[in-house]
Amino acid sequence: MQILVTGGAGFIGSHTCVELLKRNIDLIILDNFYNASPKVLDRIETITGKRPALCVGDIRDEALLDTVFAENDISAVIHFAGLKAVGESVEKPLLYYGVNIEGTVKLLSAMDRAGVRKIIFSSSASVYSDEAACPFSEDSLTGCTNPYSWTKWMIEQILTDLHRADDRWKIVILRYFNPIGAHPSGLIGEDPKGIPNNLLPYVAQVAVGRREKLGVFGNDYPTPDGTGVRDYIHVCDLARGHVLALEKMEELPGLEIINLGTGKGSSVLEVVSAFEKASGKPVPYEIKPRRAGDKPECYCDPEKAKRLLGFETEYSLEDMCRDSWNWQSKNPFGYEQPE
Ligand code: NAD
Ligand code: UFG
Repeated sequence: MQILVTGGAGFIGSHTCVELLKRNIDLIILDNFYNASPKVLDRIETITGKRPALCVGDIRDEALLDTVFAENDISAVIHFAGLKAVGESVEKPLLYYGVNIEGTVKLLSAMDRAGVRKIIFSSSASVYSDEAACPFSEDSLTGCTNPYSWTKWMIEQILTDLHRADDRWKIVILRYFNPIGAHPSGLIGEDPKGIPNNLLPYVAQVAVGRREKLGVFGNDYPTPDGTGVRDYIHVCDLARGHVLALEKMEELPGLEIINLGTGKGSSVLEVVSAFEKASGKPVPYEIKPRRAGDKPECYCDPEKAKRLLGFETEYSLEDMCRDSWNWQSKNPFGYEQPE
């Protein structure tokens, strides 16, 4: 029995592969390395002592998918593969709808042909509407402001319709809040290409000297210090949530949507201060205008994850900053060191 991990070479996927291998769960990664490095495989092997099987390819390649299912004894799929940059999705909507939606439909169709009807899908807190109030519970109002988030929302709908049509499907939709941190070994972590879009990689690159200062997007929100509040979750906690979902899947009624977050919000300035403390490095910043589409606050009600999966987070914001700094300082340029 094997788990197919699409996008398993990426940030969250690689940490989830480590958690699976630690529990002796066999897996195969399908990834086209669009946003990942093949070096991840060596690092996973160093951490776990096991090298995951790898298929290099695109989730939109139907023939390849059929071969992967025919040649392996796959029992379930954890589906991370996709594109995730909100700003880019506004500029290139067809690319995002193509990779995320067409890719997922092709994957689901191949699974159906192969009789593999168990899937865990990476959704996002960005599907919650600006009209909904925090903490977001799974039945809070949804509604999106950019193509990336719509792809997640639409895939949730596709999965819901699929389950309605055929109740042999077991589906867990995980809505992630803000995954940060890195494996405590410092061997795997987040390695964005170009200028980071997200807060933590940007802060870490300022601390390590790759960037001069952080731009803080707005300090006039209705939050305690005026900066945006998010529910940061350690990527290792998040990865463990996937293993629990996999283990509990059989007992769950069929399709469940579950938030994965800590339930606690932290502001941008709180993150900056925690990172400075963890790294011992200054993180200079300047206040910039608000970023279009940002919510003032976004944090979850984690009750359902606890009730259905027995999931509770273990790492604090300090732990997240320490591990993020450990990764960044050991790998200042990520997986690829400059010549
Ligand atoms: P990531 O970019 O690090 O990982 C995605 C992986 O998918 C990469 O390894 C990439 O090479 C691969 N990939 C992309 N297109 C592919 C294709 N067509 N075929 C095969 N492989 C392909 O991103 P991540 O942060 O690990 O996110 C994983 C999933 O979780 C994504 O679906 C993302 O939308 C979702 N998510 C992420 C966050 C976040 O803040 N990181 C939050 C909510 C949801
Ligand atoms: N921020 C800055 N400066 C930066 C980057 C971010 O001030 O350079 C602020 C943002 O305004 C926001 C907070 O830091 O208040 C977090 O921003 P991120 O870009 O790190 O994260 P988001 O909450 O905007 O979005 C992320 C992912 C989405 C995902 C969502 C889930 O990018 O893909 O979390 O909640 F859907």
